[in-house]
Parts: sequence; C-alpha cells; structure tokens
Amino acid sequence: MRSPLRGGARMSDETKLTRRGFVKGAGLAASAAALLEGAGGKQPRGKARKLGPGEVEISLRVNGVDRRISVEPRQTLASVLRDRLHLTGTKIGCDRGACGACTVMLGDAAVPSCLTFALDAVGKPVTTIEGLARGEQLAPIQAAFVAHDALQCGFCTPGMVMSCHALLQRNPHPTEDDVRQAVAGNTCRCGTYPKVFEAALAAAGTAPAKAGPPQGDLPATARAASGATAFGNTSPVEGGTAETDAAKAQDKGSGEASRTFQVGLPGALQAKERKVPGSEPPAWDGSAQLQIVGQKVPRIDGPEKVTGRARYCFDVQLPGMLHAAVVRSPYAHARIRNVDVSAAERMPGVHATYVVEQLLGPAELKLKPATRDKYPHIRYEGAPVAAVAAATAAQAEDAARAVRVEYEVLPHVADIDDARKPGAPLVFESPVEQKGSAGGGGAAKDVPQQGNVRGPVVGGNDGDVEKALAGSEVRLEQEYRTEVQTHSAIETHGVVADWREDGATLYASTQGIHSVQDEIATLFKLPKSKVRVICEFTGGGFGAKFGAGNHGVIALHLSRKAKRPVRLFLDRRAEHLAVGNRPSSIQRLRLGAAKDGTFQAIELKAFGSAGCAAGAGCAGPVKNLYPAKAVRSEENDVFLHTGPAAAFRAPGHPQGTFALEQAIDELAEKLGMDPIALRDRNDAHPARREERRIGREKFGWDELRKRRDTG
Ligand code: FES
Ligand code: FES
Repeated sequence: MRSPLRGGARMSDETKLTRRGFVKGAGLAASAAALLEGAGGKQPRGKARKLGPGEVEISLRVNGVDRRISVEPRQTLASVLRDRLHLTGTKIGCDRGACGACTVMLGDAAVPSCLTFALDAVGKPVTTIEGLARGEQLAPIQAAFVAHDALQCGFCTPGMVMSCHALLQRNPHPTEDDVRQAVAGNTCRCGTYPKVFEAALAAAGTAPAKAGPPQGDLPATARAASGATAFGNTSPVEGGTAETDAAKAQDKGSGEASRTFQVGLPGALQAKERKVPGSEPPAWDGSAQLQIVGQKVPRIDGPEKVTGRARYCFDVQLPGMLHAAVVRSPYAHARIRNVDVSAAERMPGVHATYVVEQLLGPAELKLKPATRDKYPHIRYEGAPVAAVAAATAAQAEDAARAVRVEYEVLPHVADIDDARKPGAPLVFESPVEQKGSAGGGGAAKDVPQQGNVRGPVVGGNDGDVEKALAGSEVRLEQEYRTEVQTHSAIETHGVVADWREDGATLYASTQGIHSVQDEIATLFKLPKSKVRVICEFTGGGFGAKFGAGNHGVIALHLSRKAKRPVRLFLDRRAEHLAVGNRPSSIQRLRLGAAKDGTFQAIELKAFGSAGCAAGAGCAGPVKNLYPAKAVRSEENDVFLHTGPAAAFRAPGHPQGTFALEQAIDELAEKLGMDPIALRDRNDAHPARREERRIGREKFGWDELRKRRDTG
C-alpha cells in the first residue's frame, strides 16, 4: 500500500555535494599562511588566518606570466584558469579528481586542478596546455600525439598531454610502464590509451617514431594533407566500393546517373548497379592508387586539440554570460506540491529562476489527464525541478540551495525483478507510448501493458518454435543478464543558450545540431530559421547527445528571462542519473540444433528496462544474425523509477549479441563442435565469415583449442 510521506524542503544532491559548498563559510585557513607568505605578508609561525568567504587578491604565475586576480578562497585552480583567465584548454570532466581532464603542472608535478584550490597555487609556477607550444611550433609531446593519432574527441587530450609532459620532464627516457603509471589518473572514454603510450614513448625517443607529419608547423601540414586529391596514384586499395565501368551517361532530365560498383570483400566482389546524383564525383576504381584513402594522414583537428585551442561548447564564454545551477529531485518517485524560488531570487548575483513545467525523456501516458498538474510527476532521482542563473557558478549553486521544494514522496521500484512482481509500485498508472524523438527511435505502438511490464513485442519468422525444438537433437535453455551502462562522455551534456529578440542561439554539446534545432523550434514555437545551433567540437556523445534535452530547454528559458546568455552544463552525478543510459536486460534463450550443428530453433524472451522510458528491446541479433527453421522473439519493457534510457551505439544489439553468442558457445560445447565452425555452418554472410577467419588467425584460436583439448 502506498504511504505518502511528506518530503519537506530538500536540496538537490547535485548542489548539496559540491566542494564549494563544503568550504563555504569556513574559509580557507590552511592556505592563508602560504598566501600571506606569497604576498609578502607576515604570519606568525603555527598560526593560520581564516580567509573568505569574500574574494581575496592573489598573484598566480601561469605559463610564465604573472596574473593578479581576485578569487573566492573556495575557488579551484581549474575554475580560476577557465573562468577568470579564460584558459579553457584545461577541461573539467568530473570536478572530483577522478578523470584527469583538468591536469596541469604545479611546479614540476602534474596535478588535478579541480582538486587544487587557486590559493594553493600561489608561489608555484602553473603550466597549462596553452603553455606548451611556441606559437605554431608544437612541443614534442603535442606533435607526437598528432603524429600517432593519440586522440579522438580530444576532450581528455589536454590532460593526457600534460601528464605525459610532466613525466618527460622528470624522466626523459620512460618505459611503457612509466607512461602507463603517469596517465593512470587520466580517463579517455574514446579509448585512445595504446596510442597515448606510443606517442609518449616516441616523444621521448624511447620508441621509433612512426610515419607521421613532421614536428612543427602542424596545422599547415594537416590542412595541406586534407586538401590533397583523393584520386591520386600512390597506393592500392582492395575491395570496398569501387566503380569499374566508366561513369554511365547521366539519365536524361533526372539529374541521376547509373553506375556500376564493385561491392564486397577482396576476392568476392560483386558488381552492383546504383543510381547516384549526377553531380557526384566519379567513384574510384578498386585497384586505384590513392593518396588519402587507405593512408595514414594526420587528423585535421589534431593540432587544435593538443594545444587546447579546440573550442568545445563547454568552453564557450560569451559577454555577460550567466551560469546556471539545477535543483534536481533527490527522490525516485514523488509528487511536487510546491516550488518556492523567492529566497533564491534574492541571493547575490541571481538574474533569473525557472521552475520546470515539462520533462523530456520519460514515456507519455496515452490518456492525458483532464487537468495538467502544475509540476511534472517525478519518476526518477535527478529529474530537474527548478534552476537558477547567476553571475558566477558559485552564486548559482548557492541560490539553488535556497530553492524550497515540497515533495510528496511516493513508493518506488528500481529493480527489474521487483518491478515485475504483483503489487510493485507502478511507474505509470495507465498505458504509455514513447514517440520517436531526436536520437531515439521510440517504442512500438499499441503494445499491451500490465503493471510495470509493456509487451511483448513479437518478432521472428513463421516457424513453429515448439515443433522445431522437439525435432532438435541438441537443445539449450539459458538465461543471461546485462546491466545498465551510462555513456560517460568526458564532456558532460550542456549548452550555452542565448535568447535574443530576433531568435535563439544554442552552443550545444551535441551529435546532431539539427535535432537540437528541431526540438527547440517545436517547444518554443519558433520557426526553425530563428533557431541557430552551433557545435564546433563535441567531447564524446556515444548516442546520448541528440536533441536539446531538459538542460537545453531550461537554459533557454533562463536566458529569455535574464536577457543574457546562460551556460548550463551537467555535473558528473547528474550525467549518470538524468541524460540516458543503455538499458539492462534479462534474456531467456532456447536454442535447438541438428547433430551437425544446423540451427533448428531460436527463441528469445527478453525483459529490459529503459527506466521510466520505453524501448529496451534487444532482439535484433536473434532476428537477423542466424537463420533457423523457427525464430521467435518477445521483447518486454519493464518500467522502473530510474532515469530514461537513450540511444547508445547500436541500441539493443550489445545486450542481444552478448546473450545470443554466449548461448551459441554453450550449444557448441553440447554439440562437441568448434564454436567458430558452428557459426560458419549457420551464418553464410561473407563479411562475418571473413571477420571470423581473421579473428581465428589473430587470436591463435586453433592453437588455443588444441592446448585446451590436450589439457
Ligand atoms: S580530475 Fe579534475 S575534472 Fe576530473
Ligand atoms: S579522446 Fe579521450 S575522451 Fe575522447
């Protein structure tokens, strides 16, 4: 039985846990002595003076230049470098000392500047990523990062470079182990680690430098390379897509041309005729010698990324820009009774407040209630409730703490097994639908819904699974589970929103500027021509960065009210809770095969949770990879009081593939067959057969099997 409790006024965890909040009011006694010494003041030995919470004037020596600035004692070196000195090459990924994106050198040591108070840097030289290159001449470690392609999105790169640079300063001839140790505190979500090790060793001269652009003047070199023709004659390309006939005559009047392409793998190419726009350049011959395709070329934006010059949306700083802080629900399930922002509005530096009216992400009730609640129903911890825009990030956080939210806390369920039990707290009281949205395909329509389970969505072929299983000589039934994963881009979700009378501009960390434009135009009832979305670089997205998101909408509302640009970026905690994840899954598989391994039946019954959203299906691999007489899949969404899922690299397929391939391995064991041979017997796809052949060779598969069989 539900038992409503009065939640009373609570602060969001996002604001409650900040380090700034922790030290606020206490001042910084420990740093005072050093500061006074650095400033030439006299401090009696053993006595510390309390500083703050107001601003104090300090001198910092940054990249060889003395800078005199006023800072709050609670300000970190990272925030002072970025917000006060505009050295945005230093990134912030976690603000908790966990990711290394903020690494700078303090004296000779690499330190996380998010864990270093600016006051603690007084009297010690600070070197940031901007301090390494000399004009266009990159430092050896920067040049090596470009030459060895040790970066992808590049958001972690300044921190990685600084850690390696510090290592090379103290140890000019490191081993790979030394490099690994040096970057152990740097997280790269794109997975560039092997290239980072290579680059550091090459910069030290410990490893032979691989082919790459010459050191120095790299931007010009890179640009020249990118401008070269792709149709020159320097290297052979096998297979791929190639035009073997001369381009055929352009179809009269249609603007299209018919061309014949060679498609497939080397040795098994097939001629395919396709219509392409007549304006397309001619496709190249499969045996053409190419200068760019198939060659190692320097990444065009490498120099920008290794110098900190690449401007991510996280780095955008506009004149008069305000900073936003969001009040998030600390409860997984609650009804909001009241939101009072009056105290927050009176706080220093505050320009605007906003109370959230509608949440993007959760599934929507098919039957809308006759009257709309004033506040959105809370179905996950971390749901945004209100927001504040203030002159500084610290002032915004302070003001967010002053927002009073009255919650009626409701029972919740956050476990996929518990949610399926009779009597479990309901996430939705009536059937829902999930429309396709920016970056998300939505969920099938008109699907039955019982309790917290929406499904099944049935797929497969016309075969009779029970009959095919009964006729199988070998059968397997097994259950597999996968857990929720969060995308964890190092640059969190966020925007800088700038509302003007003549339209809105959003600098959005996104994978699709048009998806942001569409969503903002719809929600704010603006013509698309009045919505401009800019994104020069994105620090990772992995599928979760489409659409404006709640943060984009909130920031634009604040900007409209404040008549100023507003910056709103999520902190790491909110990133995990509120902007998407890969759904979990419970998959029960039944497989049946003939003695020779030929699949007879494949059946999947899957339950997955996209939190308070729908679309956790994972049957793609079962339906598409291996043919069998009878294939059947049932996909069910299980609703939980957790954040809505988002697209995540091949949605549904990693979960589905994991379970199916595990089951095939187990079936091979039962059949006494080599697992690769079992797959080859059932899957004739030429690309996958080739992949298995290559994998077999590279893993030393046959040798390992032999060793296993001989004990
Ligand atoms: S370690 Fe400082 S931002 Fe992550
Ligand atoms: S390149 Fe390291 S996080 Fe993207």
